[in-house]
Amino acid sequence: MSRLFLGNNGHKEAVQLAKLDQTRMPLFKALVDYVKEEVMPFHTPGHKQGKGAPAGFFDFIGLNALAVDLTEITELDDLHEPRGVIKEAQELAADLYGADRSFFLINGTTGGIYAMILTVCGPGDKIIVPRNAHRSVVGGIILSGGVPVFVEPVIDEELGIVMGVTYDAVEQALRSHPDAQAVLLLNPTYYGVATNIKEIVELVHQYDIPVLVDEAHGPHLHFCDALPMSALAAGADMCAQSTHKILGAMSQCSLLHVRAGRINIQRLKAMLRLVQTTSPNYLLLASLDAARAQMAAEGPRLIQKTVALARTIRKQINEIPGLVCFGEEKLNRPGMYSMDPTKVTVTVKGIGLSGSEVEYLLRHKYKIQVELADLYNVLFIISLGDGLREARTLVGA
Ligand SMILES: Cc1ncc(COP(=O)(O)O)c(C=O)c1O
Repeated sequence: MSRLFLGNNGHKEAVQLAKLDQTRMPLFKALVDYVKEEVMPFHTPGHKQGKGAPAGFFDFIGLNALAVDLTEITELDDLHEPRGVIKEAQELAADLYGADRSFFLINGTTGGIYAMILTVCGPGDKIIVPRNAHRSVVGGIILSGGVPVFVEPVIDEELGIVMGVTYDAVEQALRSHPDAQAVLLLNPTYYGVATNIKEIVELVHQYDIPVLVDEAHGPHLHFCDALPMSALAAGADMCAQSTHKILGAMSQCSLLHVRAGRINIQRLKAMLRLVQTTSPNYLLLASLDAARAQMAAEGPRLIQKTVALARTIRKQINEIPGLVCFGEEKLNRPGMYSMDPTKVTVTVKGIGLSGSEVEYLLRHKYKIQVELADLYNVLFIISLGDGLREARTLVGA
């Protein structure tokens, strides 16, 4: 039986639901205060706020970035046992996203996925995962000694793209493997395709096991009704989101959100300690704090604007003979319950070129870099950093 539902996806006014003072950036402020105090650093990192940095590097990167490259001194807290500004910053993130706990990740969603899997899966334990899972899922399973039970996602032969897993496929896996310890879902895929996550989460919970979600491409879902439902809104137990991929944080910065109940938080914290450095980069951590505050202040407006821009780009690309930018006409099919229009996938086979050839042309003739290219497609990520100029340049090329 195929179960497909469209309609109200359950979003709430995310920002209005936050209870804490979301204008605060405790971690970022602590860094700035430390720099302003002109403390003499007899601590790591060895470049001592840029003074010992290689000259050419210093000139390009700039004083401020190196001045806040600090270490875990008392007022800057401890990522692995936070009691001060990192604790506060994480609480603000949890408050904004409606999570019971949120954790800052500085080894990307990769680190979050490792920690999530290691938390629920030990040697010999089964975990149900999509066959198109990211390599970090495979890595997490290897590290845990767990046993993957793969669920085949739907494949769109025409586009040559892997879509989501269906409710039926997950149900079949659960029936065949009632001893599975968890299910991991992808929400949405790299190409922005989302399955009916809410219904699948409810199904998995009937087996009283947790749902982990690789939400690397979904840190913005929470802020806009036009986007697929977020993992937390769907009732998932844990999710890891690449804040750096889609929102304003720096590369490597992700968030791990937890819904209390099925997750052993102490074990999760121990696993995060296992997979993350003891020398977290404070510039990265502060960028997570600032990205959260930015979304609290302006998230709905920025994401709505991004969605509108992406829709305009899609429409204009679809008017170009030979190019196809798949969209909502594909909805309501198995494995494709909803989609994120800001992932602009352009199928280029109609112009007789491969995705990689188009990538090369765009890069070297038009100075445009795509996010990824495959045999038939190129993928452009439209984010809050894009505007009309970028849209015009892209469509013009
Ligand atoms: C689907 C998916 N999951 C996880 C990751 C890992 O995310 P990160 O680069 O933040 O470690 C990626 C990265 O591309 C991804 O595409």
